Amino acid sequence: MSIVETRPTSSSRTLQEAIDSLQIAMPVPDKSMTQDQEWVVVEDGGEWKQIRLHDYNDVFAIQGLYEKWVYEVFQCKSPDKIRDLLAEAFNDNEVDPSTITVLDLGAGNGCVAEALLPLKIRNFVGVDIAPSAEPAAHRDRPGLYNDFIIDDLTNPSPESLAKLDSHDFNCMTCVAALGFGDIPPEVFAAAYNRVSDGGWIAFTIKPDFLTETDPSGFSKLIRRMLENDILDISEREKYLHRVDTRGEKLHYEAFIGRKKADIPADWL
Ligand SMILES: C[S@@+](CC[C@H](N)C(=O)[O-])C[C@H]1O[C@@H](n2cnc3c(N)ncnc32)[C@H](O)[C@@H]1O
Repeated sequence: MSIVETRPTSSSRTLQEAIDSLQIAMPVPDKSMTQDQEWVVVEDGGEWKQIRLHDYNDVFAIQGLYEKWVYEVFQCKSPDKIRDLLAEAFNDNEVDPSTITVLDLGAGNGCVAEALLPLKIRNFVGVDIAPSAEPAAHRDRPGLYNDFIIDDLTNPSPESLAKLDSHDFNCMTCVAALGFGDIPPEVFAAAYNRVSDGGWIAFTIKPDFLTETDPSGFSKLIRRMLENDILDISEREKYLHRVDTRGEKLHYEAFIGRKKADIPADWL
């Protein structure tokens, strides 16, 4: 499928103004700084604050910070990579994007859903655990999500369950949100099992979490899903996710596939 529309400016002018006017300063590059220790200082209301990237609740609370840091400075390519791979898969399988309802796991403030708009997908439900993600998504990309759930999917509230039950998901996206103390295999499985059989699954993960010795549980889970025909992978591609604070390239792996069956509860 060729992407005929340009990236829509669902980001309001206010978001772009916030990105442009935000002042941030990066630490001196330090080889010992791991990916989950990265931080910046940012000017917020006349005060300079130090914020760690993985403290997403604090990041999303400051308008434009995530976009300026992750997309402008770190040149993150992941949402666009998932869009391009999904576009190819939809084209090959003659999928009508207007029939797609996406469960966007680890949605943050909506960068992935926004990246998918040129595919003409119009139904998105965001799920995140950081309370500031939902107001940030509404603030930065008003009207993009049909629904948004702030919860831990391993123990969702009755309200969250009712919201999840009210949608028929036939696609799940999970971009740059697995591992590192972020989304664990149990949450990934809970979201995955919400997608109908035959539905599309699109996610990215750092290759470190796919090695034999990986302690996160994702390596084992994904291997079992493939071996037991739970997931049928149509595309698997290593790509440049972003650069880090030192300017070093971070490569991730993108997966596109179709769900064949639920992940059994006794695997987790
Ligand atoms: C690096 S951000 C990615 C945001 C978005 N997917 C993107 O690519 O722009 C990781 C997101 O995962 C969310 N997250 C972390 N743990 C989670 C969990 N257990 N359940 C749902 N979301 C979680 C964080 O709050 C954050 O919004």
